[in-house]
Parts: sequence; structure tokens; C-alpha cells
Amino acid sequence: MQVFKIALTTLVVGILALGAAAAGVVYSGAYNVAATDKHWPITYWVLNQAVHRSVERQSADIEAPELGGKEQLLAGAANFDAMCSDCHAPPGGQQSVAARGMYPKPPELTHAAEEKSPAELFWVIKHGIKASAMPAWGASHSDEEMWAMTAFVEQLPGMSATDYRQMLQTAKAQGIGHGDEGHHDESDESHGGDHASDEASGRSDSHGETQGQPHSDPDGSAHAHG
Ligand code: HEC
Repeated sequence: MQVFKIALTTLVVGILALGAAAAGVVYSGAYNVAATDKHWPITYWVLNQAVHRSVERQSADIEAPELGGKEQLLAGAANFDAMCSDCHAPPGGQQSVAARGMYPKPPELTHAAEEKSPAELFWVIKHGIKASAMPAWGASHSDEEMWAMTAFVEQLPGMSATDYRQMLQTAKAQGIGHGDEGHHDESDESHGGDHASDEASGRSDSHGETQGQPHSDPDGSAHAHG
């Protein structure tokens, strides 16, 4: 009985001490929230695992429709160009200046296309990823549009800059893809056509800044990473 009491007291005191230490770190401001202050490798690994497992689990019940029709891919390409390529970089091109300063940095999506199922990709596109710059597109786009983007992302492995440019030109010629509603009219013009010839510079200038702003992370306060 005595031993049990001592063990229990030690446990309770230990938990309280840990809690106090954690509160101390939070209130002292000692934790650095700067995007330039990288997580420890172990923290990064744990967070990545958490995202990976969560996406797997949350998307488990989603059934992908048949993907890869020609029109669907063209619509996906046009929307990818308007809404995703600033952050994730277009085939053969570069991500925007704003995206290069993000942490976690938006990954190039070839790897995700190989690793993730269509349902997982769709789920990420629809719901976004908490406390990262990855937006939830489900609030502004239909499932159909998001499946088109999923279908396009699936095709990224092996896609050349030329293939991509051709898809954008065809989509534009056929009036496919609605572009990004959040974009200014004039930058809609440049999607597809202009930047196809001027991949890197045109794009970072025309929307690097506008895209970067909204992502000053509404979730920032809940930034529990680390
Ligand atoms: C403002 C920047 C930004 C935009 C715009 C954006 N993303 Fe992301 N995206 C991110 C970031 C950052 C991550 C990584 C999040 C993490 O790992 O916690 C990410 C992750 C992803 C992933 C998961 C990658 C992986 O390897 O697990 C997919 C898929 C994805 N984005 C697709 C898209 C698509 C499709 C669009 C356009 C509809 C888009 N993103 C637009 C920033 C962005």
C-alpha cells in the first residue's frame, strides 16, 4: 500500500512538473516560431508521419471515379496552372518566391503522385493540411473540379515542360478550365499563354506576391508544431 502511494505521488508530481515546464516554455516565448527555424529531424519525422497517416485514414472511405479522360486532364491542367503551380512548381518550372520561403516548403508533386492513391490526393486537395500553407479547395470548388486536378496530378510523373505547355494551350483554345477565381483578370490572361514561354520569371512576378499574402496562415495561433 505504502509503495503504491509513493509511486502514485511520484507520478502525479512528475506529470505536474512536466506540465509546468511545458507551460514555462510556451509563456516565456522561448519556442521560436520562425519559418526559418527548422524543426528537429525527429519532430519533422513525427509531424510527417502524422500527416501521412491522417491522410490515409481520413480518405479511406473515398471512392475515386474513373480518371484520366482527355477533357478532365485539360481542365485539371488549367486549374493546376492557375491554383497550384505557384506553390508546387509546374513541370520544368519553378515555384514562386513566396513558396520558397514557406515552411514546410510545398513539395514538387511527382513524388506524391507516385506515393498517394487518387483518393488521398483528392482528400488533400479538398481539405488542405492544417498549420501548413496547403489550402482547402473544397470550400470554393466542386468535387468534379477537384477530381480533375487529382487526375492531372496523377499524370505528373514523366510529364515534360513541353507536354504541359501543350495541354495548357489546348485547354485555353477550347475554353476549358475556369482559372482561379481569386486571381485578377489580367493574370488569367497570362495563365496558359504567356508564362508558357516565360516560365520562371513571369510567374513569380505576376502572382508570387498575391498568392503569398492570404497564406499568412489563419491557423498560425494553433501552430502546435514542435
Ligand atoms: C500557398 C501554397 C500552396 C498552394 C497554392 C497549394 N499547395 Fe499543396 N501543399 C502546400 C504545402 C506547404 C504542402 C505541404 C504540407 C505539409 O507537408 O504539411 C502541400 C501539400 C500538398 C499535397 C501533398 C503532398 C505530399 O507529398 O504529401 C498535395 C497532393 C497538394 N499539396 C496538392 C495541391 C494542389 C493540387 C493544389 C492546387 C489546387 C495545391 N496543392 C495548392 C502548399 C500549397
